Amino acid sequence: MPTAIVTGGAIRIGRAMALHLAGKGFDIALLYHSSSTASEETIQSIRSNGVQCRGYSEDLRKLDEAFIEKIFQDFDNVELLINSAANFIQENIEQTQLKTLVDTLNLNLMFPYLLMREYKRKVNKGLIINILDERVEKTIPTFAAYSVSKVALKHLTELAAVEWGQTIRVNGIAPGLILSPQGGPPDYLERAAKKVPARTHGNIENLLQALDYLMENQFVNGETLFVDGGSFLR
Ligand SMILES: NC(=O)c1ccc[n+]([C@@H]2O[C@H](COP(=O)([O-])OP(=O)(O)OC[C@H]3O[C@@H](n4cnc5c(N)ncnc54)[C@H](OP(=O)(O)O)[C@@H]3O)[C@@H](O)[C@H]2O)c1
Repeated sequence: MPTAIVTGGAIRIGRAMALHLAGKGFDIALLYHSSSTASEETIQSIRSNGVQCRGYSEDLRKLDEAFIEKIFQDFDNVELLINSAANFIQENIEQTQLKTLVDTLNLNLMFPYLLMREYKRKVNKGLIINILDERVEKTIPTFAAYSVSKVALKHLTELAAVEWGQTIRVNGIAPGLILSPQGGPPDYLERAAKKVPARTHGNIENLLQALDYLMENQFVNGETLFVDGGSFLR
């Protein structure tokens, strides 16, 4: 069975992608951090598809290279990597604390960088998908460190697509208004949808369709697929 590595896989978008891949027959290396109860439920749900799943509880901000190597030792047929784990901290540039800046760049950019590098060294085939954000095409300073990290991750996606294109395809999915931020008000999606050109919000199924497309189309490399109802253009 092929294996997919999914970061941020215990909850929400990462969980949905991991379960979707399990349904297609992938064994799953599931990375999570604080969602230990949710991870147990997710791992059981993944295994109920008849595939193997191993959970790794790790603070990815630590950039532990030995941890990264271990994942590739545990699974010998990795064919897909999804970098979904990220933080989302509301501080503009002036407000940004050093901890926010370091944590955000470590988690959202540097860990995916190191994991992709190891994927190239150990796997050298298949597909890498980085989960970006519609904000990569916008200039909204409210989540400054987050936006910088996602723009840089998009550029890394493109660099890797060029450097590795002969053996690995590297693409991005840039979600727009899909889920409320954790702890957001109940009417968050409906209110925010008024600013989306499509005048509606998306859902996780829209992201899974993007994932399927990128998995199936073997000639798409270095692409960022915006799943945002056209918001990135505004
Ligand atoms: N939700 C949206 O509508 C939306 C829109 C645009 C872009 N995105 C992007 O889509 C991706 C998933 O979004 P989401 O809303 O599902 O994310 P989320 O609910 O905010 O979850 C964040 C994920 O990152 C993991 N994480 C956070 N800090 C970590 C750390 N220090 N070490 C390891 N893992 C850590 C969390 O793991 P634990 O829970 O185990 O701690 C969790 O799985 C993100 O890259 C996000 O930027 C989402």
